[in-house]
Formats: sequence, C-alpha cells, structure tokens
Amino acid sequence: MNAFKGKRIVLTGATRGVGFEAAKLFLAAGAQVFGTGRDQARLQKAAIELQKLGQFYPFLADFDKPEAPAEVAAAVTALWPAVDLLLNNAAVQTHKKDWAAEGLDLLNEQWRCNVFAPHELTFRLVGLLVKGVEPRIVNVSSGAGSIQALRNSSDMPTYRLTKYALGGMTILWATTLKGKVAVNCLDPGWLKTDLGGPNAPGEPADGGQRMWEICSLPWTETGKFWHGNREIAF
Ligand SMILES: NC(=O)c1ccc[n+]([C@@H]2O[C@H](COP(=O)([O-])OP(=O)(O)OC[C@H]3O[C@@H](n4cnc5c(N)ncnc54)[C@H](OP(=O)(O)O)[C@@H]3O)[C@@H](O)[C@H]2O)c1
Repeated sequence: MNAFKGKRIVLTGATRGVGFEAAKLFLAAGAQVFGTGRDQARLQKAAIELQKLGQFYPFLADFDKPEAPAEVAAAVTALWPAVDLLLNNAAVQTHKKDWAAEGLDLLNEQWRCNVFAPHELTFRLVGLLVKGVEPRIVNVSSGAGSIQALRNSSDMPTYRLTKYALGGMTILWATTLKGKVAVNCLDPGWLKTDLGGPNAPGEPADGGQRMWEICSLPWTETGKFWHGNREIAF
C-alpha cells in the first residue's frame, strides 16, 4: 500500500500549474483531495479531469476576499473529521522592476493570498490536522524569497517579501506544532506555469513531483525549506 492511500488532503490552487499536477499524483495514489480554485470555469474544468482519477472535491475560493479561508475551513470541517495534509499552494505574483513600479497597494493585495490565507487556513484547520495521521502542512514558497535572493535581486519585491514572510510563518507554526504537525516550505523550482512563464526550464509536472517528495519526507522533518527532498536555505 502506498503512503498516500486514503489521505485527506486540502490543496489550494488545484486548478492549474503545480497544484493541478500534485492533485493528479495524489488522486492516482488513492488520496482524497479537497481542492480550491478562484475561477469557476477553470475549477469546473479541472474537477472534470481530476474526478476521473479519484475523489476530488472542488471548492471555489478567492483569497483576495477576506471571508474565503473561513469558508474553506467550514467546508472541510463539514466533509472530514480530520485532515492529514494541508498544502498551501495558491499564490499570485507580479513581476515589476522595483518598489517604485509596484507601488504601495500591491503588498496589501498579495499579502492576503500569499501569506494571510495560508496562515488563516492553518489557524482554522489545526484542530482537524492534529487528529490526522502523521499530519503535515506544506507552504509553497519560492527560491525568490530566500535571504540570498533578497540580497542579490530587487525586482518583483512584493512577491519576494510575501514568500520571505511565508518562510518565517512556516518556522513559527513548526515550533508551535512540534511533535503534532510537521510544517515545511517547498520551493517547486522555476516552472512553465502561468505564474512561471514560458521561459522557465522546468515543467509543471516537476513541481507536482517535488510536492510528492516533500510530503514523503520522514514526518519528523519540520520547520525547514525544501526543493523536493533536498533541504535548502531559507
Ligand atoms: N511556477 C514557478 O516557476 C514557481 C516558482 C517558485 C514558486 N512557485 C510557487 O508555486 C505555487 C504554485 O504556482 P503555479 O506556478 O502553479 O501558479 P499558477 O499556474 O499561476 O496557478 C496558481 C493557482 O493558484 C490559484 N490562485 C491564484 N490566485 C488566487 C487567489 N487570489 N485566490 C485563490 N486562488 C488563487 C489559481 O486559481 P485559478 O486558476 O482559479 O486562478 C491557480 O489554481 C505558488 O505558491 C508559487 O508562488 C512557482
């Protein structure tokens, strides 16, 4: 029996890119996936594909809206008595030259989806996670938010800052939940998704594979940053 059979997985941003590829792998392995998307048509299209592979529960959630994380948590609570994996994957990126080009308002907007939504979902689902089997949280970050990247590059500063903050949030939750829930960050690599763009060297499926790898690490690994199963520096 593979390790994911029967697992109850909450996955944000399941409609395309890394999330869609990860959902395919976990469903094919016999897991159940509660997957969110922001766009109704894309969510429906993804659900048709994913339900061919297994038990996929689609849920519409736009994390630009403050009420969305609570709605997700309520729907998950109505569905399952426990959660084994929370995969905070959905994020937005704006790629402009510097702070002057991105302006002040963008941080508020991106903070909600990239940082506050993962935090609120963790906060609201922790009661179900502690009842799960070797429960885990994976926060999908980016090498673009590593300290080294911040020292060397100043483009897309808003995105970089949200991912840097997500790393800190991951460490804090890992400390809070030590021995109860493993909490780690994933850098999926630079990939040809809508977010990564057409020049990326990797394929979306590589990101799905790295999500699988981080979820297959020994459960005792927590509070760290990973590129698949290779530890990297925050
Ligand atoms: N691709 C890369 O090169 C790369 C590199 C490093 C890190 N990452 C990280 O990997 C993760 C997945 O990225 P990706 O490349 O797969 O992105 P993507 O192809 O653009 O997909 C983004 C997913 O997130 C959802 N989403 C976006 N904004 C949302 C919002 N405001 N509220 C709710 N859902 C929202 C989208 O739903 P809809 O389809 O409904 O819009 C979609 O399912 C992100 O955390 C990203 O930062 C990606």
